[in-house]
Amino acid sequence: MERRAFQARLEGTAAAVERELENLLAVEAQPGEAARPRRLIEAMRYATLKGGKRLRPFLVVETGRALGRSDGGPRRVGAAIECVHAYSLIHDDLPAMDDDDLRRGRPTAHRAFDEATAILAGDALQALAFEILADPRTDSSAEIRAALSLGLARAAGLAGMVGGQMFDIEAETAAAPFRLEEIARLQAMKTGALLRFSVEAGSRLAGAGPKVSDALGAYGSAVGAAFQIADDLLDAEGDTATLGKRAGKDAGRRKATLVAALGVEGARRELKRLVDKARAAVDAAGLGASGDGLRAAAEFVAKRKS
Ligand code: IPE
Ligand code: IPE
Ligand code: MG
Ligand code: MG
Ligand code: MG
Repeated sequence: MERRAFQARLEGTAAAVERELENLLAVEAQPGEAARPRRLIEAMRYATLKGGKRLRPFLVVETGRALGRSDGGPRRVGAAIECVHAYSLIHDDLPAMDDDDLRRGRPTAHRAFDEATAILAGDALQALAFEILADPRTDSSAEIRAALSLGLARAAGLAGMVGGQMFDIEAETAAAPFRLEEIARLQAMKTGALLRFSVEAGSRLAGAGPKVSDALGAYGSAVGAAFQIADDLLDAEGDTATLGKRAGKDAGRRKATLVAALGVEGARRELKRLVDKARAAVDAAGLGASGDGLRAAAEFVAKRKS
């Protein structure tokens, strides 16, 4: 798929997910709710709406589409994952973590609001994600809703994103630099888990069989690993204005990255290897031309400038 066609598809999905998130994050209290505290919903909207590449929702929707499911279900699941992602960024930027003041070209949530509000906005976004997955409007099958909830819980929590963030923070003050396997594990957890789950969710929603699910799971893992290497390369080589977040912070903070362990060239080689692996996994899933969007997404992850 040509770069321009891919961009159009990515933007189309992002716009549809934006509408979904706009509805889910309505300012007014919804039926059955006592109230939506104004400051809290404003902070949730600030951190979630109008921003980001929406790559995780794209992977859900595109996997569903490649396998023949194109109703609103994958879009809602993509919105749920984006809520967890937005929460992870709010907390990642807090002074106690990466202490950043710029995100998506704007002040970070704790700067625009305050720390307590930012922490609570993250907490509420995480809960909202599970509310969306458990809602019958997401899928009529209770079994599928339960499987999606289980998958997101595992991807987001102790042995997933949050666990990876713990290793990431520990690396800053570790006595010795993390070994390659430790870095790979950290990154597979902090970033890879949610990206892999996005692909798995798309397969599950489309009712894929085990062979296709396994092959696409390998695709999700490769894309997830590639994504964080690209993020680390952009931190080392990108500029703040293009990135919309502060560049050049990882080295000073002693972050455990492949750029630190292998150098820029070594990290680039690993990135290319992972993109090839991701493309091969789409072939192994037997998707043919319907997998072109997923193949292009793997290329995009490596070539993006922000
Ligand atoms: C940034 O994620 C944080 C990482 C997991 C590396 P993205 O690069 O997907 O951030 P947005 O959503 O596009 O802003
Ligand atoms: C964050 O990784 C991964 C998350 C789980 C949020 P980074 O700390 O490298 O992300 P950026 O560079 O701040 O976006
Ligand atoms: Mg971080
Ligand atoms: Mg950070
Ligand atoms: Mg980074």
